Amino acid sequence: ERFIAIVPAAGSGSRMGSERPKQYLDLLGKPVIWHALQTLVAVPRISQVYVVLAPDDAWWPQFDWQLLGGKLTTLHVGGATRAASVSNALACIDAADEDWLLVHDAARACLSGAQVEALIDTLADDAVGGLLAQPVADTLKRADAQGRVCATVPREQLWQAQTPQMFRRGLLRRALAHTDAVTDEAGAVEALGLQPRLVAAEASNFKITWPQDLALAAQILQARED
Ligand code: C5P
Repeated sequence: ERFIAIVPAAGSGSRMGSERPKQYLDLLGKPVIWHALQTLVAVPRISQVYVVLAPDDAWWPQFDWQLLGGKLTTLHVGGATRAASVSNALACIDAADEDWLLVHDAARACLSGAQVEALIDTLADDAVGGLLAQPVADTLKRADAQGRVCATVPREQLWQAQTPQMFRRGLLRRALAHTDAVTDEAGAVEALGLQPRLVAAEASNFKITWPQDLALAAQILQARED
């Protein structure tokens, strides 16, 4: 069995408010997506890294990817949702049903190799698979459309789902064929009645979403190089 990474990068990043999709914004002289790809190709157990691009993506060819080496393959099969992008990729990659897939957000630039290793070590013998996640730290409020609090949601037992999310190819294909109304792969697996395992992650593996997130990501990556 092999470990294969899939990085869906076909989103528009509308919350970022920039014309350039967020995976191509500049982060320390490289596009945002470069950083997570660099981490994934450097994990010895990962044999292949597939990047899922929008069919009309004109940004990717503008950068030089040579430095990331031979594990990298692009697939121009991005869909309307993240689930569709992943589902399309699963249909065309060279993998067996028992191979493990690690699906990672292009925008989680500060993923560390150690986190990927911990995920693989914890789940490699697991019957279901799982994901990196972090316990919720803030008090959570549910609000109405006017911004008035309706309820406080108890945060005990609540976790924030991160990526990579790691499932066997056969299971993930079955799960995504069954439902695509989910915002992560684990959600599709849960819809089959299975319980993915949570693997404790670091806050640094956050998803670059808002404009101020870029400076924070730059700081984290820079501190690692020092
Ligand atoms: O929008 P969100 O931040 O949840 O996107 C998470 C990841 O899924 C990003 O890497 C984004 O590029 C990807 N995505 C995709 N195809 C879509 C929507 C999002 O590959 N249609």
